[in-house]
Order: sequence, then C-alpha cells, then structure tokens
Amino acid sequence: MHNTLPLESPSISRRQLLNFLTGAVVATTATSVLYPVTKFFIAPTEGSEDGSILAKDIHGNLIPAKQILAEPPGTRALVAGLAAEPTYLTIQSDGTLHPWGILDNCTHLGCTFPWNPNDNQFQCPCHGSRYDPDGRVVRGPAPLPLKLVSVNLEEEYIRISPWTEIDPRTGEKPWWV
Ligand code: FES
Repeated sequence: MHNTLPLESPSISRRQLLNFLTGAVVATTATSVLYPVTKFFIAPTEGSEDGSILAKDIHGNLIPAKQILAEPPGTRALVAGLAAEPTYLTIQSDGTLHPWGILDNCTHLGCTFPWNPNDNQFQCPCHGSRYDPDGRVVRGPAPLPLKLVSVNLEEEYIRISPWTEIDPRTGEKPWWV
C-alpha cells in the first residue's frame, strides 16, 4: 500500500493559460467599451469623499433638478440632504438655486419647522423661534443661526455638500464646523 502523495503538482496547460489570457483581454475590452455607455444611463455617484450627496426626496429617490427648478421664485423646497436631514433649497428670483441650503433643524432643541411665506420667515412651532429667509435668528429662544450646506447642480441632479467656509451671514467661521 502506497501512502505517498504525488510529488508533481498539477500545472496549468498551455491551452488553459491561453484561455485565461484571452478571457482577461475580452473582459478588459468589454469594460472599456461598456463603461461610458452605462455611465450615460446611470446617475452620477450619490456619495463622495468630501461627504457630499445628491438631494433625494422623502422616499429616498434622487430628485431631478428640473423638478425643483420648475417651482416659482421664492419657493423653499424641502429635500433630504446630508445624513438625510431635511434641508430647504431656495429658488432665487432668476429661477436658479440659491448656493446654500438651510437645515430644517431648529438650533434651540432641534425641532423641524415650516417656511411661512406670509411672514417671510422660518417659524419653529415648538417654542416660537423665528428665522429670517437666510436662517438668521429673528426671535429666540434659538441661540444660533440655522446650519448651511452648499448646493450645486451636477448634471441633472443637485449635489449637497457640507458648508465649511466662512458663514456669509456672520463673516465668521461657522459654529457647526
Ligand atoms: S426647538 Fe425650535 S424654538 Fe425650541
């Protein structure tokens, strides 16, 4: 009875090697051809290394920018922004998007609040804080202006990024950075 194992390990035949190399070439070629085609049909990357995301609706679907831009000037459109936080986007008088969005998160105790177009204010129902159209506190108890995010068009979608620059309302470093 022989208990020894074969000393020679199976080697890849010439045909197997050629098949492997041919398959690799085909796969590479297919990828280079299909990539631009598929990129055309799919949305741009939702997330990004800088922490930005594409604006979505309440169901988690990407919102086409044209849907928001179809709203009349002065509209505050609520979308799901960074970390899915509700975020107001403003349609400016020329029909474009305002370059910053405003978080729907009261700086008092975090309630969400509606835009009141009659008073031209964000008005928090919890304890009565009020903010002007740019998110500055008009009436407390809210201690701080509303957080901002950066808003940009990206192809047919809206990219929302963290706002880390100087707060244009105070001329100072943002309190949330
Ligand atoms: S949470 Fe908005 S006023 Fe208190």
